[in-house]
Amino acid sequence: MEKEKKINASVEATSNKQVIYREPVRGSLKETHLGVRTSSERLKADEDSGAIAVKNLYLACDPYNLNLIKFSAQLGSPIPGYGVARVLESGHPNFKKGDLVWGMTGWEEYSLITAPESCFKIEHTDVPLSYYTGLLGMPGVTAYAGFFEVSSPKKGETVFISAAAGAVGQLVGQFAKLLGCYVVGSAGSKEKVDLLKNKFGFDDAFNYKEEQDLDAVLKRCFPEGIDVYFDNVGGKMLDAVLPNMKLRGRITVCGMISQYSLEQPEGVHNLMNLLLKRVRMEGFVVSDHYHLYPKFLEMVLPLIREGKIVYMEDIAEGLKNGPAALVGVFSGRNVGKQVVVVSRE
Ligand SMILES: NC(=O)c1ccc[n+]([C@@H]2O[C@H](COP(=O)([O-])OP(=O)(O)OC[C@H]3O[C@@H](n4cnc5c(N)ncnc54)[C@H](OP(=O)(O)O)[C@@H]3O)[C@@H](O)[C@H]2O)c1
Repeated sequence: MEKEKKINASVEATSNKQVIYREPVRGSLKETHLGVRTSSERLKADEDSGAIAVKNLYLACDPYNLNLIKFSAQLGSPIPGYGVARVLESGHPNFKKGDLVWGMTGWEEYSLITAPESCFKIEHTDVPLSYYTGLLGMPGVTAYAGFFEVSSPKKGETVFISAAAGAVGQLVGQFAKLLGCYVVGSAGSKEKVDLLKNKFGFDDAFNYKEEQDLDAVLKRCFPEGIDVYFDNVGGKMLDAVLPNMKLRGRITVCGMISQYSLEQPEGVHNLMNLLLKRVRMEGFVVSDHYHLYPKFLEMVLPLIREGKIVYMEDIAEGLKNGPAALVGVFSGRNVGKQVVVVSRE
């Protein structure tokens, strides 16, 4: 009864702290493009409105946020992004008050989600709720679908992953190890390289920022070549990988974060290797694979509970620290999945 009263009071909240899109972004995202303000509005998800009113608990800092900011956000309004939230009021038959969900929401304390069909209901709460911004949310399905569905991996193959200490990369590496592959990752600091080798169980790792010759380091790590390259960065790393692919290797294009902030994308020079080595290079978008979510959970939840998958988060406390946390993802300041805590309820 006490809890019920608290939830009702929250729906009527007039104070709503928000991270808003303040200035148009061209090129790289800076903190000055975003602002934090407190607005006063009442959220209402009327019966049969199809909407849900939620209290946001955790927000994900995804590279995808930059795309959302540039192409979907409205100047002066809260920026959109993935998050974990508690339903306060529901006008949609699939959701009821008290449900926990993850999906597209707003960077603010309270949001009205007008198309909640795209949200996933959270059924398993014996794991930290913040995991649904990463390991058990969009980046987790990305790692699962990108590796198992797109990369066509086989036991004993060699796998290279860039941005390997991030939300997606750390999982792809662990999936590849569980399958019995030889796994190497690249990351942008010594701390991350140590994590890859000592926490996530990669066979080898290197700091790409300290290597003058990426071709040489790849040849050292993969004297026989690479079967699967899980590309999170594009650019110079992709170019260096191409001549190091094995015959009939696969390049899974998950992301190209090295290009997102450039006004002119860099060119790729070594594409001839696709032809000579019959390499399959294939991009994918996670939302095409969301139907696999139940199958993914069925596989990953027991692995988490048994400690066979470990996971690392980088936590920023409070919406006021959200802009800095998000900007940090584009220079590698995050160590593990960058999460913003809005409320621990
Ligand atoms: N295809 C899809 O549907 C889909 C879905 C989700 C994510 N993605 C993509 O997957 C990739 C990884 O995403 P994530 O969520 O796991 O992010 P993340 O790895 O947690 O964070 C991004 C990381 O990228 C690295 N980075 C930043 N700027 C870079 C640059 N200029 N060059 C090289 N590396 C850079 C940084 O690590 P270092 O310190 O190692 O540089 C940073 O920590 C991104 O490209 C993202 O867009 C694609």
